[in-house]
Amino acid sequence: MSFDLVFFGGTGDLTWRKLIPALFQAARHGKLPPGGRLLGVARDERSDDEYRRFIRERLVEVDSAKRPTDDEFARFAAQMQYRRMDLSRPDDYVGLKQWVDARGADTVVLYLATSPHLFPQVCEQLGRVGLNGPNVRVVLEKPLGHDLASAQEINRVVRASFAERQALRIDHYLGKPAVQNLTALRFGNALFEPLWRRESIANIQITIAESIGVGTRGDFYDRTGALRDMIQNHALQLLTMIAMEPPASADADAIRDEKLKVLKSLKPFAAESVGRDVVRGQYKAGNVDGQPVAGYLDEVKVPAASRCETFVALRTEVQNWRWAGVPFYLRTGKRLASRDANIVVNFRPVPHPIFPGTTRANKLVIKLQPEDGLELHLLAAKGTGSSELLSPVSLDLDFDKAFPSERVGAYERLLLDAITGRLNLFVRSDEQEQAWRWVEPILEAWSRDTTGPRPYVAGTWGPPASSALVARDGFVWDEEE
Ligand code: BG6
Repeated sequence: MSFDLVFFGGTGDLTWRKLIPALFQAARHGKLPPGGRLLGVARDERSDDEYRRFIRERLVEVDSAKRPTDDEFARFAAQMQYRRMDLSRPDDYVGLKQWVDARGADTVVLYLATSPHLFPQVCEQLGRVGLNGPNVRVVLEKPLGHDLASAQEINRVVRASFAERQALRIDHYLGKPAVQNLTALRFGNALFEPLWRRESIANIQITIAESIGVGTRGDFYDRTGALRDMIQNHALQLLTMIAMEPPASADADAIRDEKLKVLKSLKPFAAESVGRDVVRGQYKAGNVDGQPVAGYLDEVKVPAASRCETFVALRTEVQNWRWAGVPFYLRTGKRLASRDANIVVNFRPVPHPIFPGTTRANKLVIKLQPEDGLELHLLAAKGTGSSELLSPVSLDLDFDKAFPSERVGAYERLLLDAITGRLNLFVRSDEQEQAWRWVEPILEAWSRDTTGPRPYVAGTWGPPASSALVARDGFVWDEEE
């Protein structure tokens, strides 16, 4: 199968930090279909060789395991080309169309790794010159909108040029191996399904914690905040994968229909429930990994009096027969105690304890990072004569060890899926709009609230109000156990 993969924003961070290394890994693993051309598109004048050198020089900043040797890079770079384009000039799209048509590849993937404010203009021009035929797919990177109205506007413009099945909205969390394994765990095994419901599950906790701060992205981050940056997309997508009903098939729309139903079943927020069930925080100076770090307000390009949230914890419910009354806690933040993303499914305790001194219940931990795996926490008898007869033990499945040569990174998987047209892991426009609809009352309530985010010390797990949110229901966050 021949393909052309075009990167708009070909010299941008996303392209050289994530996309090119992911493609290189795919090539290294022998997974990149042969017959591909990779075209970087950007504003400056440069030759193909200059572009290859530009990418090569930047790859030194990429994780060493993902860095090509000189020989590997030379082989990989042979399929790379560069094209200068001014995205505001209609003629430049005509030139691109000619470049694509001259070869007539089976598949053309147009990856918009640009600032999102350019999406409408680029999609419109692509449609105008006819770069939207049935073999063309367009990949859109987040952030897709700032609120419901702006997301709908982007979707309207995209839809004017591309059919829904041609528009691939990336949420790179869906490409993470743990998310694939969650689907396999739930729908490839019969074991958990009878337990996957309110009768057996006490609460579910989804945590995406980062130890990094906002780095040099202060201006972008300050316009965005943790709710838009992580909850509206990544955390809610994880929630849908946990809570969805078994789909009728592995077909992309069968899965996305079920995910949409979950989003539509989420308990809606109103002004007073935002105050009660959502905690927003902002980091102050502190210590991370033993190093002193600045507070958010002292980060570069962050306005001095910013009220932007760098932390969110919230409580919601999925209002349907399976989940009624089960709290789902979602939490994300920058400058937290460690880089840790996981989903913890806390089961109910035994109805009638016969072992003294045991208050713990079973839990299943789906670990997304730093490593990915599954832990099933059970209680086992530890020797005899002890006053506490049962001790917690865990059955650990480390996917890196179980399938050492099969590990595929998130962007690698999503790029390969974009090339082969497998849409399961891309977000449909109705899902994305529904997620915005659900977070909007939170944004509105915050815009009227004069108290602003609660401070937390960098290197901790967020403001104390986050623990109180969970404690109110008689639970604790997983790391507090
Ligand atoms: C991005 C956010 O979508 O995800 C970043 O914009 C965040 O702020 C990143 O750091 C986290 O991704 P990962 O894969 O490193 O957990």
